[in-house]
Amino acid sequence: MKLNPANLNKRDLYKFFVTAIIPRPIAFVSTISENGVFNLAPFSFFAPLCSKPAIVGLGIGRKKDGQKKDTLRNIEFSKDFVINVVTETLAEAMNQASVEYPSDVDEFKEVGLKPVKADLVKAPMVAESPINMECKLVQILEFGESHTGGHVVMGEVVLIHVKDELWAGSHIDISDLKAIGRLGEDLYCRTTDTFEMKRVYR
Ligand SMILES: Cc1cc2nc3c(=O)[nH]c(=O)nc-3n(C[C@H](O)[C@H](O)[C@H](O)COP(=O)(O)O)c2cc1C
Repeated sequence: MKLNPANLNKRDLYKFFVTAIIPRPIAFVSTISENGVFNLAPFSFFAPLCSKPAIVGLGIGRKKDGQKKDTLRNIEFSKDFVINVVTETLAEAMNQASVEYPSDVDEFKEVGLKPVKADLVKAPMVAESPINMECKLVQILEFGESHTGGHVVMGEVVLIHVKDELWAGSHIDISDLKAIGRLGEDLYCRTTDTFEMKRVYR
């Protein structure tokens, strides 16, 4: 079986990506609009891209009508955003925040999460998330035609907040973090079923 992306429509290519590239971490992205409204949305087209400088990337698709999503508009305005790590206890609220609310709706209030002021960026942080990364916009790339295309947003992490009990000296205690990942469309995974394999060096 060979699939030529040129012959697949947007929906089928999306379905291929979300079932072939798994598990995906979920960036729960908080932003602030031009009018001061707080916004929250999950993005699993998300990856760390470079360690130092600490660069992360988000893939933000367009709405069905071709318009930009609020998260992208807000980042274009404030030039910053916060990535909040999604844990098992935050799963329901994260899912609720993926609903397309109108731009003037405060999604923190809507999903029952508490905003906290960040130190270096205008975007708020999610109090209930044990890890928050304050990010400043570095670059936005636009791909494709308006209704099928999307944007890749790259940001530099300028400040990291970690709950003390999760910090194991030089890294996060992943067994206590209980982060979740995204598989296919409605499937998620836990990060508690792990195995160890020592890295081999020559
Ligand atoms: C787990 C999960 C992951 C998602 N990942 C993405 C993504 O990577 N890119 C994207 O454009 N939309 C993604 N979505 C959909 C957005 O969260 C959704 O379009 C949201 O309404 C955007 O909100 P906004 O308009 O406030 O920015 C995802 C939804 C869920 C539930």
